[in-house]
Amino acid sequence: MDACFQGVQDMARRPLREAERPKQDGEAHHPLALPVATDALRIVAEGAPAGGAAVAHSRGLPDLGVDHPLGHRLMPLEQRAPTPTAGTGTTLRLGLDLGMSLIDTAEMYGAGHSEEVVSRAIEGRRDSVFLASKVSPSHFAYEDVLRSARLSLKRLGVKQMDLYQLHWPNPGIPISETMRAMEKLANDSLIRNIGVSNFSVQQMQEAQSATSTHEIVSNQVEYSLLERSIEADILPYCEKEGITVIAYSPLAQGKIPRGTGEPFRALDEIAGRLGKTRSQVALNWLLQDDSVVVIPKAIRKEHIWENAQASSWKLSREDYERLSKAFA
Ligand SMILES: NC(=O)c1ccc[n+]([C@@H]2O[C@H](COP(=O)([O-])OP(=O)(O)OC[C@H]3O[C@@H](n4cnc5c(N)ncnc54)[C@H](OP(=O)(O)O)[C@@H]3O)[C@@H](O)[C@H]2O)c1
Repeated sequence: MDACFQGVQDMARRPLREAERPKQDGEAHHPLALPVATDALRIVAEGAPAGGAAVAHSRGLPDLGVDHPLGHRLMPLEQRAPTPTAGTGTTLRLGLDLGMSLIDTAEMYGAGHSEEVVSRAIEGRRDSVFLASKVSPSHFAYEDVLRSARLSLKRLGVKQMDLYQLHWPNPGIPISETMRAMEKLANDSLIRNIGVSNFSVQQMQEAQSATSTHEIVSNQVEYSLLERSIEADILPYCEKEGITVIAYSPLAQGKIPRGTGEPFRALDEIAGRLGKTRSQVALNWLLQDDSVVVIPKAIRKEHIWENAQASSWKLSREDYERLSKAFA
């Protein structure tokens, strides 16, 4: 188990050393994404106001020899089931014990609570965690970004975040100003990689053009069998540029497990034949694209375990295309 966990860390670290490498003069512009292997085991510590806890992701899942959840998405403390361990980070620590290596949170989640809980969870094991957080759009002014990052670092109890993401675009503040602050954070080694969320292609391009020394490595956007808009341009662009798509609401906020109608008959037929559940097939469909990682949210333990098993197998090309058409 320890060896497997170490293996995961090795996978995670190797590509990131590349990703953080500043471009050389004249070097072609090929952003290095968080490679899929990096996200093989992800813990999403979100805590969105309407959200619940749980999970995460899936690709390239190493065989740990045990059934295990892929991740845990942290709820705001007040929304968490009242257990003696609530808020102590115990659940996150369990995830780490099981080999999960990436924790994703945001300053906005639980008004900073989420980051504090993450801090307790990673105590004594910082080196084996890939830590990501996000700055809120209302803090995109230069000094605000710097202050937000410092406050996040303080709440997280770390000296550096592995990935720092712009949570949504903010047209009210020039992206050049925001990116200047992100660059400063990277140059000061307070963050290792820069990511965005909910950015269009144009916004990604504008953000990238605003920095000559660092790459945008990821864009967290909505993507599921029921929400395919990113296929028009964001997905192809990210594939071409080597930017990782972090797919949020990959189960369409529970509509996929509950849905009825013709496309769902195809999904059920495939799931039944493969001995999988709808959710597992729907997540596996997303993961067919090497540029995509998924962050399903689940409060219920059985959902976490179920989603954890969405990746150690592969849909056939035929089933993949049938689903693509059925849900088009
Ligand atoms: N970056 C952004 O701007 C942004 C925006 C929106 C969302 N997100 C993040 O994306 C993540 C996921 O999105 P989401 O919560 O909107 O939707 P989702 O993950 O597509 O769906 C969550 C719903 O699906 C249910 N579920 C999960 N696994 C299941 C399974 N195996 N079988 C049956 N039902 C299952 C969950 O139930 P239980 O909870 O009862 O287990 C929950 O009701 C969240 O962490 C969210 O914070 C990010």
